[in-house]
Amino acid sequence: MSKKFRVFATCDIGESIDLLRQRGYEVEVYPQPEAPPKKLIVDKVKSGIDGLITTLRDPIDAEVLEAGKGTLKVVAQIAVGFDNINRADANRYKVPFTHTADVLTEATAEFAFFMLGALARKLWTAEHLTRNNQWGYWHPYLPFLGDEVTGKTIAIIGTGRIGLAMIKKCTGFDMNMLCYDPAYQNHDYVKAIQEMKDLRHARGICREKTWIKYTTLEDALTGADFVSVHVPLLREGESTTPTYHLFNERTLRIMKPTAYLANTSRGPVVDEAALARALKEKWIAGAALDVYEKEPLPPDSPLRDPEIEDRCRLLPHFASAARITRLSTDPNKGMAGRCAQGLIDVLEGNYGGDVSKMPYVVNKEAFAK
Ligand code: GLV
Repeated sequence: MSKKFRVFATCDIGESIDLLRQRGYEVEVYPQPEAPPKKLIVDKVKSGIDGLITTLRDPIDAEVLEAGKGTLKVVAQIAVGFDNINRADANRYKVPFTHTADVLTEATAEFAFFMLGALARKLWTAEHLTRNNQWGYWHPYLPFLGDEVTGKTIAIIGTGRIGLAMIKKCTGFDMNMLCYDPAYQNHDYVKAIQEMKDLRHARGICREKTWIKYTTLEDALTGADFVSVHVPLLREGESTTPTYHLFNERTLRIMKPTAYLANTSRGPVVDEAALARALKEKWIAGAALDVYEKEPLPPDSPLRDPEIEDRCRLLPHFASAARITRLSTDPNKGMAGRCAQGLIDVLEGNYGGDVSKMPYVVNKEAFAK
């Protein structure tokens, strides 16, 4: 490698940073755990770096890209979601950006499933009872009961990678599944899952016959006992099928009053003010959130209302937070490894230097020949 590439990372991505340095890269890592101020990112880019490692909390837009005009060659994001990166601006400045899809798919789906299970079986309230010495007896229905997950109907909202992985997890719990996706349907996958379900029934593994199908948003929400959200955040004007506030007063009100909602996608897909009301006024039975309209969750969020504490689980954007998923240096296992490889592919001109052929680049359309 003839050129020594300069890289600024807005967060530490572990051992992968050392591996970049061993390749001869000069890498500066922002030392704090919080996001750096935007001005600092702009200044670093202006100083002539070749590559920028970012994550979901860093706004990357025309201001940043303008600062890197003629020098910045790649933005490598450690996250699958990239709503913090203005794709139209990146295309205009012809800066490829990469993301870390696939390696967090199973981790995120299992976390969504665990969130729903913890919510429905009231694990948080039950443990508090035990710890607070309020567990005075074993009784058939006191002090409260939860709801089983097995055999229930779940709506899978969004059937991209993570939605499909969630379907796979739910198959193991013999759930019926109502699938909805405004932009992408995978009928072959759904057919294969139905075949697995039929086999489980035919071979006596599951007593009841169960089913899976695509349907409308309305049918999915009115028919489900559980709803799990797996769509990207797309604001008005970014897509013909925007997902901003897909869950709002109207859609929350059509869910069953006994239903539970889990969101591991992006916070703004759910209107939090409407959700807080839905929980308080019991339009739905509960919600578990891993993502928020504003992160970290502000101290005055209505979701913190003690009145809804028993039915509102709040997690710190944590679904992909498993050791191997986050930090493995192997691009086929870890977000860090995939992030570093995306950066290397662009800077070192892998794939014959054809950006449109590089697997982790998102905005290939800007480079199609
Ligand atoms: C996490 O939310 C991610 O997009 O990777």
